[in-house]
Amino acid sequence: MADRKKVFAGNWKMNILPSEAADFVSRFCSLVGTPTDDSVILFPPAISLPAVNAALPASSGVTLGVQNVYWENEGAFTGEISVSMARDAGATSVLVGHSERRHIFGETTDETVQKVSAVLQGGLTAVLCVGEKIEARKQGRQNEVVADQLDPVLRRVDESSYSRLMIAYEPVWAIGTGETASPNDAAQMHGFIRDRIRERFAPATADQISILYGGSVKPDNAAELLSMENIDGVLVGGASLDPTTFSRICLSIA
Ligand code: PGA
Repeated sequence: MADRKKVFAGNWKMNILPSEAADFVSRFCSLVGTPTDDSVILFPPAISLPAVNAALPASSGVTLGVQNVYWENEGAFTGEISVSMARDAGATSVLVGHSERRHIFGETTDETVQKVSAVLQGGLTAVLCVGEKIEARKQGRQNEVVADQLDPVLRRVDESSYSRLMIAYEPVWAIGTGETASPNDAAQMHGFIRDRIRERFAPATADQISILYGGSVKPDNAAELLSMENIDGVLVGGASLDPTTFSRICLSIA
């Protein structure tokens, strides 16, 4: 099995003011110390990126990302930000296709393909979010839904940029609901995702891509989820908004 480091990603969504960000960072960093090998990624609202970046101690082991980008580099696209803007403001990662983007803002799989492609071309890491709604899970169609979201992106990714691709499996019914996929159900889906990646890339390449789990991850369920095969990290929403709670998740397997 490939030696993949565990990743702890905090998605602040539309929470925490820019003026509150520095306090979060200093409290969080004093609790986690210096995490090794850039294992923690914070995704604040893009407008808070400079404040978070400025507050991070040198060699903090924390890297930053944005929650969304547009695929064009610049131009008349009111309200959007580009990959180069995110990079210039200190981001090294981008969430693409989060379920709230797909289901509240109508983002399509074609758009996620363009976004992942732009992110990788721009030299940043793309964290592609996939996951089924409850109806699909009840009908046993979860693999089909995830494959439909994943395969078009994998077809577009060049094998040379695989090292900057991560997948986050986030069942929509588990996001913000307090309901978590059982470790076995999550591991089953992660295994399925790994198999799809292996169909696209050479096995050694496929085995290096991290697959994160997201959906009501908390300090008391993180370690068990992370102990499962192919669960290489967690993408945390609600529980990442409090520095103490998020630090407990980040330290749960220390
Ligand atoms: P949650 O959100 O941890 O609040 O369920 C996860 C996410 O949407 O990334």
